Order: sequence, then structure tokens, then C-alpha cells
Amino acid sequence: MSVNQYIEQNRDRFLSELFDLLRIPSISADSTHAGDVRRCAEAVADHLRKAGADNVVLEETAGYPIVYGEKIIDSGLPTVLVYGHYDVQPSVPDELWETPAFEPTIRNGKIYARGACDDKGQVFMHVKAFETMMQTNTLACNIKFMIEGEEEVGSNNLGPYCKNHRDKLKADVILISDTGIVANDTPSIDVGLRGLSYVEVEVTGPRIDLHSGVYGGAVANPINILCSMIAGMHDENRRITIPGFYDKVLDVSETDREAMGNIPFDLEDYKKHLDIENTMGEKGFTTIERTGIRPTLDVNGIWGGYIGEGAKTVLPSKAYAKISMRLVPNQRSTEITQIFQHYFESIAPKGVRVKVTPHHGGEPVLTPTDSIPFKAAALAMKETFGKEPIPTRGGGSIPIVALFEKELQTKTVLMGFGLDSDAIHSPNEHYGIFNYFKGIETIPQFFKHFAALNQ
Ligand code: BES
Ligand code: MN
Ligand code: MN
Repeated sequence: MSVNQYIEQNRDRFLSELFDLLRIPSISADSTHAGDVRRCAEAVADHLRKAGADNVVLEETAGYPIVYGEKIIDSGLPTVLVYGHYDVQPSVPDELWETPAFEPTIRNGKIYARGACDDKGQVFMHVKAFETMMQTNTLACNIKFMIEGEEEVGSNNLGPYCKNHRDKLKADVILISDTGIVANDTPSIDVGLRGLSYVEVEVTGPRIDLHSGVYGGAVANPINILCSMIAGMHDENRRITIPGFYDKVLDVSETDREAMGNIPFDLEDYKKHLDIENTMGEKGFTTIERTGIRPTLDVNGIWGGYIGEGAKTVLPSKAYAKISMRLVPNQRSTEITQIFQHYFESIAPKGVRVKVTPHHGGEPVLTPTDSIPFKAAALAMKETFGKEPIPTRGGGSIPIVALFEKELQTKTVLMGFGLDSDAIHSPNEHYGIFNYFKGIETIPQFFKHFAALNQ
């Protein structure tokens, strides 16, 4: 039986098994779901075993387990290490979901559920593609799976795990489906991801909350101060004003920028989809460039003072914000965090004290395009989409990609199948049934071409 025949015959089961996985609320950020996260790891392990993987284990870490499994068919063949994550983002605010986040539902050809695209749907494509290759006797490479449960909270335990299991994880390429394509009729492969520097800031004014009439006007209000400090971090051209912030930013060649300009993109659709009248970003760059090759600074959350019902006339003692900076090659996460901290402290007026607490970070990456893995992925997509994929830059971050290079000396190929409009991390996350099956069809082609190109 051919690969496509097998997929066709098992279509309904491939969907219903994914649905079972999506019903498990494996939210790594929320400790009340610790049992669910673990249950999800066990479910992934069971599916790998049933699909035909050997030596399937839950590798215990200081946090959630890493699911490992493998099929070594011939030590002379190349080995593909598949990475993905079974944990998901929180579903809040739940009231904005049209159907509950952990009750997968099909509407308009799309599977709605938290994790449908990021990343359970995309991980499960690999499990089902593996099953398909096993059942049709077409597995052309050795395969190893490493599916973690802490990607959405910074992958803190994955680095040490890789370092301690270099031999076990030895592979010729790391294959990841945790990114997207331009459109369903425009396949693409991300050849770069942004890095991340994430900090939390605290601004303290007076010892306690004060009467805003008795003291207002005479004492620094930490929320007012924090807002003006943050506002000053962009200039009139929407460039970040932190000294040294752009020093290491790698210039992108005119040819590469021209190629980015040729990526199909409809600004009107984009604005309509987001319900905004206009886009906004760094002067001199297009929307695709702003999210692909330029660094950013965004407030992710800001709080302090009185936010209860009605009015309370108070001059707050404290103000807080969570701030993320997306980084591009060759910025370094720790260095950017440091210069942010230094700058934030330097612009604080005397009337307040400030504290900067670094959270997780990650390095930006570029993946090669002149390599065998990239060529194999391009050939595979060309076969299943009928079109050559375009190289693109992903705006998001997968910090472990840089780490894999460091700890395992292995390069990655980012063959994702999501769409920007899939609402990952947002209410009503979804994944096209088209994309799910396109992934299941394309992955075996990758293995075929990767084996052939390595001969
Ligand atoms: N799958 C995403 C990353 C992604 C999405 C890359 C779309 C390219 C395009 C991943 O699960 C994610 O959300 N990463 C986090 C970083 C992490 C340290 C929490 C992110 O980008 O915010
Ligand atoms: Mn992801
Ligand atoms: Mn994510």
C-alpha cells in the first residue's frame, strides 16, 4: 500500500486520536495542571509505542518529562531527530472561546482547540507519519523522537538533558514542525527565528499607597513614571532608544530584502484580520521585515494601583511590567538583558527605586539553506504542495534550536505547517485539517529525500 493510500484509509482515526490528545489540558505554566501535563506525556509515549517505536521512555527531569522513542533500522542510514512539545499555553480568557479550549471541535475545516497547531497537532503529524512509514515499509532513515513538556515555559531542563545524552540524541538533522507556512497555496520554510529577552520590572515610589489628593503632585507616582520610562524606549521612528540595542544587529543584504518583498502578502487582509486601521512599526521596514529581521521591545503586561470596581483615589506605592524583546542575529540574549537593565536603572528619576528581574531568554537562529536537510524539506514540500517552498523568517522563538547547535552540534530544519492566522496562544486557536494531513503526507517525503540525498 502506498503512503497516501494508508493515510487516506486511516484519516478518521488520525483525527480522532489527535482529538484525544487535545482533550488533555497540558498547560505547563499552571501547576494545577501538573497531573494533566504528565498524563499527556504518557499519552504521547503510548502513541509512539503503538506506532512502532522502540525504547520509548519518559525521561524524568527536574520539571516535566521528555518523551523519547526511536526506531533504528540500519546504522548505515542517516538519523532524523524529531523535536516538538506536548505542553500548551494557558487557555485564558476562556470566555472568549467559541467552543471550550479542551473540547476539540471542527468548524469550517479547522480543528479548534488549545494546542491544535502549537504544537500537539504538528507533533502528532510526525507520530502518524511515522506509523504510516512503518506500516507501508517506507521508513528510509533512522528516527528518534524527543518531545518535551516545557517549551512554553522556557525549556529549562532540555539543555541539561541534551548535554547529558549526546550519544543517545546523535542525529544528522533535527526536524521540527512548530512554525508555519505563508499560505496553504504558498509553502515556505522558516530559515530563521527570533531570539528572546524577557524581563520583569518593578518601580517603587512611596512606602505605602497614599491619598492621591493629600500627596498627589508632590510625590512620584510609580505608574506615571513607569509609563513615561516605557514610552521613551521608542523614538518617533519606532526605533528602540536603548543605547547599544542595535549594535550587533546583522544587516540583511538588499538581495535578501528584495526576496522578502516578493513573499505574497496582502496588507489589507492583514489589517482586516486584526481589526486595525493601520500597522505600526520601525520606519523604513515592511511588515514582513518588521517581524522577521528586526528586533522589538513590547510590554506584555502592566499593572499596579487600584483596578477594582469604582474609583479609589490612590497614589500607588508600586508599578510593574513584563517586557519582552525579540532579538535577531547576532544579538545575544544575556547581553541585551544586561543593557536593558542598565538603561532602565539609568533613566529612573530620583523619586523612585527600580528593580529588573530577568526571566528566560533565548538566542536568535539562522538555519542553512544550502544544506541537505533544507533541500530534502524543499523537495518534500514541492512534491506535496506542487510548488517550491519560499525561505522565510519566523517572528517567534524556539530557544532550544540554538541550544541544539551548541549542545548537540546538530542543525535544524523548520518544516512547519501552521498559518499566522491560526491564533496560537490566543483564544480560538485552530489548525486546518488540510494542514494536518499535508504535514502527514509531506513528512514521509522528507525522509525519502533525506535518505536519497545522503547516499
Ligand atoms: N511555536 C512557537 C514559536 C513560533 C511560532 C515560531 C510561530 C515561529 C512562528 C513556540 O511554541 C513559542 O510560542 N515560543 C515562545 C517562546 C518560549 C520561550 C515561551 C514565543 O515565541 O513566545
Ligand atoms: Mn510551539
Ligand atoms: Mn507556543
